[in-house]
Amino acid sequence: MSETPTAAVTAAQVQRPAAPFQTESFRLTRPQVVGPETPEFPFPIKLSGPVQRGFGRGGKDLGCPTANLPDESIESIASVTKTGVYYGFAQVLPRPEGNELSEDDVKVHPMAMSLGWNPFYKNERLTAEIHIMHEFQADFYGYEMKVVVLGYIRRELDYTTREALIDDIEIDKLVAIRSLDRPDYKKFSTDSFFASK
Ligand SMILES: Cc1cc2nc3c(=O)[nH]c(=O)nc-3n(C[C@H](O)[C@H](O)[C@H](O)COP(=O)(O)O)c2cc1C
Repeated sequence: MSETPTAAVTAAQVQRPAAPFQTESFRLTRPQVVGPETPEFPFPIKLSGPVQRGFGRGGKDLGCPTANLPDESIESIASVTKTGVYYGFAQVLPRPEGNELSEDDVKVHPMAMSLGWNPFYKNERLTAEIHIMHEFQADFYGYEMKVVVLGYIRRELDYTTREALIDDIEIDKLVAIRSLDRPDYKKFSTDSFFASK
């Protein structure tokens, strides 16, 4: 049995937990594919909720826009797993009225998610931030989002430079794409949890 505390336990702590700094040797030895050939407990974890605004730094500072889920939507994942970076699939649903998203935008896309405290930015709260690997035609704050989390990539780290965080996020995206490119992961992109149209 692992002694690693779940995100819910760390969230219950009043202060942000300490995170180790990224090292060059960690970056150079990162595997390209992570997780077993078939998703294992606690995966798949299914989350949904309206997309919330974050601080907006993901798109501006990091070239990696993220869609945040509301606190209620992340309770289920925070109670069963630890903070860190995850991979899976996500879909933003079209709005019945005033929809600005294209047909491509509302498809199921690969995603990389950060569940944690963003130690580099010293956040005061636990958040789930999802980077969907697709160029959207329009903003989608307030739209309903569905997410299937299928695997764990790495723990959250602190960084001495923004560039080092960007480098790791770029590697996370590749690791997510490669890890999802296996039959038992790929099949979740057509899971009935996602809206078919
Ligand atoms: C794939 C991925 C990995 C991330 N890894 C880390 C990390 O290790 N440490 C960290 O402080 N923040 C990490 N972040 C979080 C970013 O700092 C965060 O998404 C960014 O600050 C945007 O937040 P905002 O939209 O609230 O401004 C990661 C984000 C993503 C999408």
